[in-house]
Amino acid sequence: MDFSKLALKYKTPLYIYDFDYISTQFYSLKEAFRARKSLICYALKANSNLSILKHLAALGAGCDCVSVGEIKRALLAGVAKYKIIFSGVGKDDCEIEFALKEDILMLNIESEAELKRVEKIAQNLKTIARISIRVNPDVDAKTHHYISTGLKKNKFGVDADTAKKLYIYCKNSPFLEPIGIHCHIGSQILDIAPYSDATAVTATLLRSLKALEIDIKFFDVGGGLGIRYKDEVTIEPYDFAQAVLANLGGTDVTTVCELGRFLVGNSGYLLTKVLYEKHNGAKRFVVVDAAMNDLIRPSLYDAYHEIEAINKNGGGTLADVVGPICESGDFLGKDVLLPQLNHGDLLVVKSAGAYGFSMSSNYNSRLRAAEVAIEGGRERLIRKREEFEDLIRLEKECLEGANEENR
Ligand SMILES: Cc1ncc(COP(=O)(O)O)c(C=O)c1O
Repeated sequence: MDFSKLALKYKTPLYIYDFDYISTQFYSLKEAFRARKSLICYALKANSNLSILKHLAALGAGCDCVSVGEIKRALLAGVAKYKIIFSGVGKDDCEIEFALKEDILMLNIESEAELKRVEKIAQNLKTIARISIRVNPDVDAKTHHYISTGLKKNKFGVDADTAKKLYIYCKNSPFLEPIGIHCHIGSQILDIAPYSDATAVTATLLRSLKALEIDIKFFDVGGGLGIRYKDEVTIEPYDFAQAVLANLGGTDVTTVCELGRFLVGNSGYLLTKVLYEKHNGAKRFVVVDAAMNDLIRPSLYDAYHEIEAINKNGGGTLADVVGPICESGDFLGKDVLLPQLNHGDLLVVKSAGAYGFSMSSNYNSRLRAAEVAIEGGRERLIRKREEFEDLIRLEKECLEGANEENR
């Protein structure tokens, strides 16, 4: 990848995504689940750029959405309605209504209260809501506590016994059709055992529902497959699929997974320009033009991203790579081995495709970065760099309205 050329053409900070890598990741999953009917959904929250969605839709991916905004994005990108799932612990009435009217595949329900709400809205709309219930298997995904979701103490889903009661309730409701079972235990998972354990819980429930003549068609194992940021040993898609399928003997369900990070994480690079070097005593800082508003993972989770200087020899000394934001938490890397750098030199922050741009903000009134796709050796802009006008548009109208009123 010619980072210097890209920086010259599109400026920095710049997100760059390798679309061929995304295809490879998608096909590796599809292949791993080959023995069964499967639906590989992409969890939009990882990176919801429309061009990425369109790329994945063309490969045959479905989408896991957690807001109306995400559903609208998926539809706009051409994802088939029957491949869209609506997840999330708190869905507003208008969001439920939208999903039902759009007739997407199913809503993943997270509580009894939500189920009743969906039933009521379906009744008002004179329709039947296809649903799935998110089971909280009380399994430790052994990941960062902020992104662990399958423990009783987490806010997600309901325990298997409660889920069973809810399925029975659905069976007796003319407005609810239970078609799926859902479970998602966390993100950046590197250990296969929690997947086996969680799937065992949901597969047991699946069988007990079958005995009650509740016919579940979709077995959604969630997402969470970890990726290599540094030297992590990751789970192979084949082993992931085997851990799931081993629990499904004798059943006839379509296996669904909803992966985000695995599909796009290592496709992405954040390119940033060095502004200055500075030393506070013995401490070396490299101040760059990207900041925590562009990539918040280091600040939020203490996450590691490999950072490399472009067109420089290796070696050097340790430095913290920091952004211009007025917070000590504004760093992209700590104790990074870097050569002597000058104004205008480039650094690339790797593994930035997931939870990078999608978690970015305008904090400090900074404009969000541009995004570029590389596919088959060719590059194209997939999101323009924001301009100051984008930043103030919605406020400006109010300001002008208030000025009118005061006149
Ligand atoms: C319900 C659900 N599904 C899927 C995902 C995707 O996780 P990952 O990007 O780790 O695959 C998440 C992430 O938080 C989620 O909450």
